[in-house]
This record gives sequence, structure tokens and C-alpha cells, in this order.
Amino acid sequence: MHMVDLIRKKRYGGALSDAEIDAVVRGATDGSIPDYQLSALMMAICFQGMTKHETARLTRAMARSGDMVDLSGIDGVKVDKHSTGGVGDKTSLVIVPIAAACGVKVAKMSGRGLGHTGGTVDKMESIPGMRTAIDRAEFLEIVNRVGCAVIGQSGNLCPADKKLYALRDVTGTVESIPLIASSIMSKKIAAGSDRILLDVKTGSGAFMKTQADAEALAREMVEIGALVGRKTVALLTDMDRPLGHAIGNALEIAEVCDTLLGHGPADLSAMCLELAANMIYLGEKAETLDEARRLAQAAVESGAAFEKLCAMVEAQGGDTAYLRDTDRLARGKVQATFAAPESGYIIHADAEQIGRASVLLGAGRETKDSAIDFGAGIVLHKNKGDGVQAGEPIATLYADSSEQCDEAQEALQAAFVFGPEKPAETPLVLARIE
Ligand code: URA
Repeated sequence: MHMVDLIRKKRYGGALSDAEIDAVVRGATDGSIPDYQLSALMMAICFQGMTKHETARLTRAMARSGDMVDLSGIDGVKVDKHSTGGVGDKTSLVIVPIAAACGVKVAKMSGRGLGHTGGTVDKMESIPGMRTAIDRAEFLEIVNRVGCAVIGQSGNLCPADKKLYALRDVTGTVESIPLIASSIMSKKIAAGSDRILLDVKTGSGAFMKTQADAEALAREMVEIGALVGRKTVALLTDMDRPLGHAIGNALEIAEVCDTLLGHGPADLSAMCLELAANMIYLGEKAETLDEARRLAQAAVESGAAFEKLCAMVEAQGGDTAYLRDTDRLARGKVQATFAAPESGYIIHADAEQIGRASVLLGAGRETKDSAIDFGAGIVLHKNKGDGVQAGEPIATLYADSSEQCDEAQEALQAAFVFGPEKPAETPLVLARIE
């Protein structure tokens, strides 16, 4: 096999054979194919696309390029969840304990934040003592005993994807539906769960800005799941405005606790109940989605879901005193108010822009190696659709310095658009794809 022939074949719209795809993935993993040839092939795929068969084969080959987690030692149907990423998206830490409180086993590997989006592992590490690097045996033991565990992705999961994603990131070849779908699904398949729930976000704070693109990505991933024998359901959800009130790691943990105790923000609570219900249904703990919704609601109302979060955090070394009294969690030592520059309704709250402001405050990373300030971030008092008077607080900012607050204030000026009329409400869940 000559790599240059494969690049040409794809460039002219041909389909790569199974053997050719396997060889590319092998070469990406062992370093025998140079970066420039891999990059050229990724660019040809961006222009020409891939057939469903090619995409499924690429997914399978990347999943097998490193460790394949064996969860057979855990009883019952194991359900995983993946979000394509957003601003204020702390849903995993709410729905994993709800699903586990209803009997679903969840062995989840999560990522860190990058760019304007947050990551579950960073949020968890804002709980003092919390361990997210846990070896395989202990991970399985915690899931068996507690019902759920959330850890960072292990070093050798999908090395081919790691290589290709790093190249795509710097060669303008991230935005390709078959490449994104195979990248996400390869990691989910390698992580070993039987069923997968995908939260595919669309809007200003999402990777997929349009609903059509998000739906195409969701369909592609659901089909890959079916082709490789892992039942997959996708919810298409709104990320055109931040989810909930809190953006920033410890601030979001406090909001996770509020939501599990039944007094979280309405949008976040509704979104989490729907996602949790889908996990419970996929995990075969309910006959219908309606029954799953009732079980999820009951797990919150009884306090069982909050206690499940505490049990998971304790098993992973975290100090649950910070969950039972969230005022003890880190808070940036400097606070500032972002006030409405004019009166009217907020007709747009640009989630990406607000996420970028939270990074300026120290809540996210400018580069992959930047340090995070767990106490930094934003608490929104108003969101899209709310009416405000000029000078009324829209958000409180938390940071380590007033310079950071000044920079974030400037970024926030461009994030909010005001108008005389209340905008129409958009549904939180736009579609369910099975
Ligand atoms: N997230 C991934 O894991 N892979 C992509 O290609 C894009 C987003």
C-alpha cells in the first residue's frame, strides 16, 4: 500500500477499502506514516467525505488502536454518555448519579475543557481530594460497589484518534462529519459500555453551529453505534445560550448539588431529567421513557441521586463536606458585576462569547497546558428571554484579579444583544434520534 495512492484515491472521491483504512490507522498509531501524508488524507476526506461503511471501519480501527476497556466484570447493562461540549454544561455530574440511583451502571471516562467549553474532569477536580486518575481495577470496583464512577481518559485509549485529532486541529480539518463522528465514537466504543447516550449540542456555544449539521452528526454517530453493535441514542439539544446559571468549575459543582437537591435552574433541571431518563431507559431500568422520567424525578425528590453523587465522590477520594455545604468550595477572591448596558429583553446570549469570558477569568485553558483557577467563573442572573433594566446585574464574575474581571467585562459587552420584544422560547431538546 502506498499512502500517496490512497490520498489520490480519496482526493478523486473513491472509497477506501477496509484493508486501506486499517493500514492508515496502523501507520498513524506506530508513527510510520508521516504527518504530512496523514494531513493530506484528512483534507481529502474533508472535501470528499466517507461512505457509512468507511466511517464505521475507521471508527472500529481507531477504537482498536489502543486499550479496549473490558467492563464485563460489572453486572448489568452499562450505559455511557457523551456531550459534544458546551458552556455551563455540567449535565454529566447530574445525570450519572440520577441514573446510578435508578440502578444503571455507569463507568464513564471524561475529558478536560479546552477553548470556550468546560470539561467534566476539571469540574470534579475542584472538589478537594477528588481523584480522576484511577487504575482500571479500582475503577471497576467503584462502579460495582457504588454504581458509577467518572474518571479521566486513560493514556492509551484510541492513540490513532489522538494522533489524527492533533493533526486535524492544526490543519483546518476538524470540521468533517465522518471524522468527528468516528473520533467521538471510537473513544466511546473503546471505553467499553454496552449502550451510549449522545448529547449533541447546537447553537452559538456548540461545535455544530447549525441544527442541520448537528443532526447530520447525530445521525452518523447513531448509525455507527448500530453498525458496531452498541445501541446509541442521540438527543439534539440547545446550546445557543449557556445552560444553567454557573460557568466555571467549582461554581458548576455547587449548581450540580443544587440541581440534584431539586432546586437547580429550571433549564438545567429539565435538560438533566430528560437526559437521565434516556440513560435509565437505555439501561433497561424502565419499560418506557415516561416511566424513566418518573424514576429520574423520584431519585431527585427522595435525595437518592444526591447521595449517589456523594458516594461516588467519596469513593474517588473527594471530601463530601464541600458538596453538603457548597459555600466551602473555591470562589475567586475578586468579584465584579456585569450590568445591563441598556433596558430591554435579552434576545441573544452568545454562549461561545460568554465561555470565552470565563476563560479570561481563569476558569478555562488558553492552551492545553494552562492552569485552571477552580474558583473563577461567571454566575448569570439573567439569560436569553429575560427582561432587564439598564444598570441591573446580569452576571457576577469571579477571578483572582480585577484585571481579569475588566477583560471579561469587555468580552461580555459583545455577548448580549437587547431588543424591545421577548424572543420566542426555543425548546431545550430539539430532537431525539434513535
Ligand atoms: N471531539 C472529538 O472527540 N473529536 C472530534 O473530532 C471533535 C470533537
